Amino acid sequence: MDKLVVHGDSSLTGPLTVGGSKNTALPLMAATLLGDGPSTITNVPDLRDVRTFSKVIRYGGPSVTFDPKAHTLSVDATALETPVAPYEMVKKMRASFYMLGALLGRCGRAKVSLPGGCAWGPRPVDLHIKGMRAFGADIELDEGYVHASTPPGGLEGGTFRLDPVSVGATINLLLAAVTARGPSKIENAAAEPDVVAFGRALQEMGAQIDGLGTRTLEVQGVDRLRSGTFRNTPDRIELGTFLLMAATASPPGTPVKIRKGTHEHLGPVFKDKLAATGVDVSYDDETVTVTRPDTLRPVSIETAPFPGFATDLQAQWTVLLGTTDGTATVTDTIYDDRFKHVPELQRLGMEIGVDGNTATVRGGTPLQGAKVMSTDLRASVSLVMAGMIAEGRTDVLRVYHLDRGYEALEDKLGAAGVSIHREAYDEFAEPERESVAE
Ligand code: EPZ
Repeated sequence: MDKLVVHGDSSLTGPLTVGGSKNTALPLMAATLLGDGPSTITNVPDLRDVRTFSKVIRYGGPSVTFDPKAHTLSVDATALETPVAPYEMVKKMRASFYMLGALLGRCGRAKVSLPGGCAWGPRPVDLHIKGMRAFGADIELDEGYVHASTPPGGLEGGTFRLDPVSVGATINLLLAAVTARGPSKIENAAAEPDVVAFGRALQEMGAQIDGLGTRTLEVQGVDRLRSGTFRNTPDRIELGTFLLMAATASPPGTPVKIRKGTHEHLGPVFKDKLAATGVDVSYDDETVTVTRPDTLRPVSIETAPFPGFATDLQAQWTVLLGTTDGTATVTDTIYDDRFKHVPELQRLGMEIGVDGNTATVRGGTPLQGAKVMSTDLRASVSLVMAGMIAEGRTDVLRVYHLDRGYEALEDKLGAAGVSIHREAYDEFAEPERESVAE
């Protein structure tokens, strides 16, 4: 098992480069299953989740080839003959549930494992299932699997309102609706840039979708979709993570450049909140430049569906608050228990408490390096971020969580001035007996 060893000397000087989006690449991979031949996706990040989803797709018969150096992935679904996504694979990555919409859309039937929970609690899929039924699918749940089928000739289509807004359900329902026999309408749909990019790729394949980026999507089903070549978007959460790292762990007054991101994908709320802390940020076409002031102001945030503040950036914002000169709160309205990073940040000395779905941080306490445990993807990157400003050495354990969503993070940060390296370790080794000072 691997850990990342970080020395906190706040020496992030940059530049940093943003890779391809995990949360756009995964639905794009599912979309290729609807094409009439081999499709290619470029700017695909080399992540555990991409490799896991490739295995899920291969299970049913399609060929998936990935060139990690070229960041190019190709899918040929011609040989798809087993519309199944097994538990052993789906449990590793929730987005595998996109196979339900893709297999229903392509084959008219699907057997897909329910994804189960994740590190911070239950992650239901009831909206996915209710929506498919509203579009005319016959769905039975049995032994932890969703057994789905369409009437002869495919789904009729229909209308369904999402409550709450759901990225995954929006994506899954679009995958099913684009080849339905009739029209479909998704109300209270997600408008995340990941969803918009995915919807635009479906349009390039011939799908008829109106309303991308709004809360109401209207789809006119078509008989077939064309395969093609699609470019994945830059990862907006990696961009946001790098921005917050620079705002927290760079030498004050040193401009840090972050390249190849699409800053519009951060949303206006995130940008306004970051500006309110006093960090100087300039947004050019493909480069964002961050200059940290001597002191940051405490600014409270509340997560919300896009264009609101992304829940995937709340753990990173929590670390930034630890460096401010006051007290502020982080409220997650999307996941009310996504705070597994808090006890680990407390181990580093951060003054932080959680009440319900709100964490309250009192900034200004210097952090001390320690061993800390990753619990999920964004929690683990917040621990690396805290290690960059803690005095001494911080070991971030179980970084397989981090490898799900950040490609070669230690290489990127190391090249940008941070003292960080990866080490293998034995999680179950007996701790060395320490001589206790008299
Ligand atoms: C996507 O997850 C992202 N994952 C998550 O990023 C992200 O945190 C989340 O959207 C919210 O932005 C991918 O894109 C692969 P949701 P998803 O359905 O689709 C509730 C990361 O770190 N809900 O938008 O699973 C749900 O419980 C990951 O990259 C239902 O109640 O999230 C939550 O409260 C972590 N029933 C809210 O909706 C359902 O059927 C939003 O969840 C589905 C969701």
